[in-house]
Amino acid sequence: MVSVLFVCLGNICRSPMAEAVMRRLIEQKGLSGEITADSAGTGSWHAGEAPHEGTRRKLDEEGVSYEGMAARQLDKQDFEKFNYIVCMDEQNVRDARKMLGQPDDPKIIRLLDLTGNAGDVPDPWYTDNFNETYELVTAGCRELLDKIEREQFGG
Ligand code: 4NP
Repeated sequence: MVSVLFVCLGNICRSPMAEAVMRRLIEQKGLSGEITADSAGTGSWHAGEAPHEGTRRKLDEEGVSYEGMAARQLDKQDFEKFNYIVCMDEQNVRDARKMLGQPDDPKIIRLLDLTGNAGDVPDPWYTDNFNETYELVTAGCRELLDKIEREQFGG
């Protein structure tokens, strides 16, 4: 099984959105038996909470399931458990590297660096623009899935 962990700050807006979108892309490609997705936050304030209302509304609109998802904080052991640790912004990359004790391991990456639109995924906690975040997250997840297929299955 190939495993992906999405990381943001609170694990209620961006990374749960990425997890839900990625899971649907995986299903659409018939790869649910090969690739799993999870998410975590560098912060712990929202642990146990469902995704943010704005994330839920956007996912509902797009018909993407987020059933059973609950926020949790990134854990040191996540480094061993996941093949790809995909962060939403540069600060998340820095914090995840510190928390995981991995200053330069290439499995920790920033999502939009995989696209032609390198940068941070804007945080709708501050922007209130869940549509923009959804579009960027979806574009990033498509590239991520292509990368995983290339690297893991030689596709
Ligand atoms: P997220 O957004 O990192 O995309 O889940 C945030 C959620 C909560 C907070 C900040 C960002 N907060 O400060 O509680």
